[in-house]
Amino acid sequence: MKRVQSSDDQKLQEKLKAKGNLPRHIAIIMDGNGRWAKKRGLPRVAGHSEGVKSVRDVVEACAQLGIEYLTLFAFSTENWRRPKEEVSTLMKLLLKTLKTETDELHKNNIRLRMIGDFETLPEEVQKQLREAIKKTENNTRLNLILALSYSGRWDILQATKKIADDVARKRIKTSEINEELFKRYLSTSQFPEPDLLIRTSGEMRVSNFLLWEIAYTELYVTETLWPDFRRKELYKAIEDYQKRERKFGLVSEQIKKIKGYGKNVFTLKQSK
Ligand code: IPE
Ligand code: IPE
Ligand code: MG
Repeated sequence: MKRVQSSDDQKLQEKLKAKGNLPRHIAIIMDGNGRWAKKRGLPRVAGHSEGVKSVRDVVEACAQLGIEYLTLFAFSTENWRRPKEEVSTLMKLLLKTLKTETDELHKNNIRLRMIGDFETLPEEVQKQLREAIKKTENNTRLNLILALSYSGRWDILQATKKIADDVARKRIKTSEINEELFKRYLSTSQFPEPDLLIRTSGEMRVSNFLLWEIAYTELYVTETLWPDFRRKELYKAIEDYQKRERKFGLVSEQIKKIKGYGKNVFTLKQSK
């Protein structure tokens, strides 16, 4: 993040901010690294490496824009089933990136967080992640949340098991289980639900990402492959989002009467 921001870029960001209604939480399914490499006759790993540059640029732009939460789907539960060499290459790249980028994140007041099945990650990755999370824990600008060894179903299941345990131990009653309680057991309990979900590379599916949380999230799919997805592409997605009308199951007339509605479905419920 050592680059000096160009005045053109600053202007683009000011324009987005001036429109108001920026998403508070953006989630991204970073897809298409393999296709990017294949198009160039390169090994898949070249696509993953180039993808790291997109991560850097998008993280920096989100921090500058004042986005509060950015969740990146970096490795899914199902991705463990890819060829062994690809899995180990991805883990090595993750380790290297954590090592080289943590200081930069810290300098930029960015807080690193993680969702997913931590124990399934290689020891070294666990250690590096723990350190980076600890080091940045008091940072207050952007929350950068990495989804690693994560899937929406995994999270819903681990939450369900903990709830069942708490019922068995009489810490909670079955009758107390509602959406608000359930959310507290998810690995995303500390974060607001995403306002905008971006998927690169054109696939029209959610691939087991934040299943519970995206109930009312606005979706944006672009054909752009992740290694080509840089800040200008992010601005396009945000601009598109700013034109949307979020309705949360209501009719337009009701929505217009509710002050500050655009945030999330829970805010909306409270203000009825
Ligand atoms: C996304 O790119 C990165 C991960 C899932 C880890 P892919 O590796 O899925 O690239 P494609 O979809 O094969 O092009
Ligand atoms: C989704 O991409 C997972 C990540 C971006 C980490 P995949 O490439 O694994 O998804 P599918 O297989 O195309 O659904
Ligand atoms: Mg893919």
